[in-house]
Amino acid sequence: MPYFTYKENELYCEDVPLREIVEEFGTPLYVYSKNQILDNYRAVHAAFGETNHLVCYALKANSNIQLLKLLVQEGAGAEVVSKGELFLALKAGFPVEKIAHTGVGKRDDEIEYAIKKSVASLNVESEEELRIVSEIAQRLNREVPISIRANPNVDPETHPYISTGLKVNKFGIDHERVLDAYRHAKELPNLRLVGIHAHIGSQITRFEPFVQSVTKLVSLVQDLKAAGIELTHIDIGGGVGVDYHRALVHDLLPAELATSPATGGTSAAPPVASEFVKAVLAILQSTGCTVIFEPGRAIVADAGMLVTKVLYTKQSGGKKFVIVDAGINDLIRPSLYDAYHQIVPLILKGKETETVDVVGPICETGDFFALDRPLPTVARSDFLGIATAGAYGYSETSNYNGRLRPAEILVNGERCRVIRERETLDDLS
Ligand SMILES: Cc1ncc(COP(=O)(O)O)c(C=O)c1O
Repeated sequence: MPYFTYKENELYCEDVPLREIVEEFGTPLYVYSKNQILDNYRAVHAAFGETNHLVCYALKANSNIQLLKLLVQEGAGAEVVSKGELFLALKAGFPVEKIAHTGVGKRDDEIEYAIKKSVASLNVESEEELRIVSEIAQRLNREVPISIRANPNVDPETHPYISTGLKVNKFGIDHERVLDAYRHAKELPNLRLVGIHAHIGSQITRFEPFVQSVTKLVSLVQDLKAAGIELTHIDIGGGVGVDYHRALVHDLLPAELATSPATGGTSAAPPVASEFVKAVLAILQSTGCTVIFEPGRAIVADAGMLVTKVLYTKQSGGKKFVIVDAGINDLIRPSLYDAYHQIVPLILKGKETETVDVVGPICETGDFFALDRPLPTVARSDFLGIATAGAYGYSETSNYNGRLRPAEILVNGERCRVIRERETLDDLS
């Protein structure tokens, strides 16, 4: 059930009107629904049924420690890609035996930190990294649980910048070389081979590439078993997509460009994460391994909205611009990945619409949230919600142009609380 909804003509997060929240906390502002996060996590967890599994939330999607604590309480694990994320995951309370550490470019000090903290699996992405991990483990006199990240050469059919499982991408070891890499790793001191890993990309909206990747991983597990290397877990990565086009529906909203592939749209809503899980369960069960799944976006994307205020509107060069107080320093996805986010007024006033560019205050033409987008007519001081912004929103913010990062608010029913203060000028120096 969606927790950002219109009641009459006013947009709510759970039981609180967003207008009240921004009046109290200002803009730009990230607002999250606690119950949406919990529902999303529980649906994924439940989809595994009796199969041994661990849902390791990918911190990169959103690493606000209060959101992480919600997932810790649910029994989730964590997938981390740096010393900083491992530190945060431990601070939030994820048990170390539920933490998998990936990362194509781990520094030696990061490897040492992960070993000393005893992560459940260090996911290694090259043969050279295997050798370095072994050397560091010997120096520390520790045994390290290892998974090799395979590159299955499967096209996730997503934006090239978030495609990670094609052989031309920098990630993992070529599918064809994985067996040899395990044989080699078996000979290296202080490594314990526990699992195998793949992650082909993010915002996957069709079953097929995901199923193909899992099938290739399962065949590797079987080949390894035949070669005398028995693994205990299979990590199928994350990457399942969310519906960016149909988060909000109302008679007074222009029909969204839901079916346009140019904006990442699909003719029907893409499958949800639990359906992706169900699509691969039977294939995975044959291995007898514990399944690790690493969703990020599917847990938090639709649980977050970036709220911004209209500063100015202007007609220029045959276009209408709506200039808002959030910029690409607050949400870079439209500019970086051509990503589509619905943009909606917090209060719907009438049927009149205009085609506009929604742009931010940053000194770059790439600072936009929507181009040539039909939007209900808005004026200075109106508020707009940029929907489905809970994943790769705040986690990709910056201080570019000397701008301060926004505050983050968590809503639970009728209550809301600040889970990160807005930055102040002191944070810039
Ligand atoms: C190794 C790994 N696992 C999981 C994820 C999470 O992806 P998503 O947020 O699309 O589920 C990513 C995202 O880049 C990743 O690189």
